[in-house]
Amino acid sequence: MSGTTRREALMPDSERIAADLRELSSFTESAEPGWSRRVFSEPYRAARGFVEQRMRGAGLDTHVDAAGNIVGRLAGRRQTLPALMTGSHTDTVHAGGRFDGMVGVLGAIEVARRLRETGTELERDLYVVDFLGEEANPFGLSCMGSRAIAGSLSRDHLDRQDETGLRLGDAMSRFGVAPEHALEMAWSPGSLQGYVELHIEQGPVLERGSKQIGVVTAIAGIERLLASFSGRADHAGTMPMAGRQDALVAAASAVLTIEREACGAPIHGVSTTGRIESSPGSFNIVPDEARIWAEMRSIDASWLQGAKRRVAERIAAEASDRGVDAVLEWLNDSETVSATTSVQDRIAGAADDLGFCWEAMPSGAGHDAAHIAAIAPMGMIFVPSAGGRSHVPEEFTDVADIARGVHLLAASLVDLDRGN
Ligand code: GLV
Ligand code: MN
Ligand code: MN
Repeated sequence: MSGTTRREALMPDSERIAADLRELSSFTESAEPGWSRRVFSEPYRAARGFVEQRMRGAGLDTHVDAAGNIVGRLAGRRQTLPALMTGSHTDTVHAGGRFDGMVGVLGAIEVARRLRETGTELERDLYVVDFLGEEANPFGLSCMGSRAIAGSLSRDHLDRQDETGLRLGDAMSRFGVAPEHALEMAWSPGSLQGYVELHIEQGPVLERGSKQIGVVTAIAGIERLLASFSGRADHAGTMPMAGRQDALVAAASAVLTIEREACGAPIHGVSTTGRIESSPGSFNIVPDEARIWAEMRSIDASWLQGAKRRVAERIAAEASDRGVDAVLEWLNDSETVSATTSVQDRIAGAADDLGFCWEAMPSGAGHDAAHIAAIAPMGMIFVPSAGGRSHVPEEFTDVADIARGVHLLAASLVDLDRGN
C-alpha cells in the first residue's frame, strides 16, 4: 500500500464515533445543569467504566494507573522503542458540554480500532489515555492525571483543599486512587516518541476562517488570582458616600482593571473574573468583605508576567484609595508551552496529504498536552466548535468535523511511528 492509500484506509467510522459520543454523554450528574460530569462524581466513575470497556473492545490492554488515569495499550512490533501516546479527558466543567475532552478520548479509541481493522501494525506501542481530572475544580488543580505522568504532581498539590476543607489527596483516595503512589509514577523523558491530542477548538477561529483543522502552535499559560478585600460595614442609608470603605466597590473596580489589562494584549492575551462574592450581603449594609476569582492567560509568557504585576499594583492602589485592604493570592495553573515544531510539521504534512484545509493557531484553553510536553514531543489537532462556544451546554462539533480530526490523528501517529 502506498503512504497515501494507507492514510486513506485509516478513515474512521463516523457512525461509531457519534454512537460513542452519545453514550458517553448519557453519564451526567442529573441534578446539575448542562452536561455536568465533574471529577470524582459518580457519573464520572461510571463514564470511566464505559471508556475502559470501549478501550478493551478496541483491542487495548487496559489498566488504571496510580494517578487514576485509564491507560490502554496497543502493542507495537518493537516494544523497546519509545512509545506514542494520545488521549484527553472525560470530566467536564459544571454545566459544560459533550465534546470538550471526550472527542480526544473516543477519537483515540477509534484510531486504535481502525489500526487493528486495517491490519496497520505500529512499530511502537501506542498508549491511549483518559487523564484524570483535567478541568478546573474546587481543589484549584487542573490536569491531575497528566501532571502525575509528567512528574509535576506535588505533595503541596495533594494538600490543596476544597471549600469544605476536603484535601485533594483524600478526595483521590475516596475515588480509589492512591495519592502517594501518584507522586512516584512519572514517565521518564525519552519514554515517548510523541504525544498528539485531538480536541475541539473551543473558540471561533476555525469556523470564521472556514478551516477544517487547527494545528496548535502553543498552549496559553494560565495565572489564577484570588483577591480578598476588607473594608468597613456601615449603614447604607446614613454613611455619606465620601466616608465609605466599601469592599465590594473595590472588588468591582478590580474586575474592570483585570478586564482592561487584556484588552489590546498582544497574541491572545485574555483575562476573566469568573466569580465575585461579598458580605454581609444585604441591601442596606455597606459590604465589608469581598472576594473575586479571576484568571489571566496568554501564549506570550513575558506579557503574562508583566500583566500580573501591573494588575496587582493597580488593584492594591485602587483599593487603598477607597480605604480598603486587598490581599492577592496568585496560583500558577500552567506555564505557556510551545508545541514541538517537528510534531506540528508532521500533523500539517499529514493534513496536506489528506487534503484538509488547516490553519496554525494557538490554544487559549489549557490541555493535558501542556503537561505531557515536559516529557515528550507534543502536538495538538483542533476541530471547529460551532459558534466558537465551549464550557456551555450548547458546545457542539459536527461528527464530520470530528471524523476529519480522528483521521488526521491516525495519520499523524502513523507518521510519527515511522519517523517520516
Ligand atoms: C480547560 O478547559 C481550561 O482551559 O480551563
Ligand atoms: Mn478539554
Ligand atoms: Mn475544558
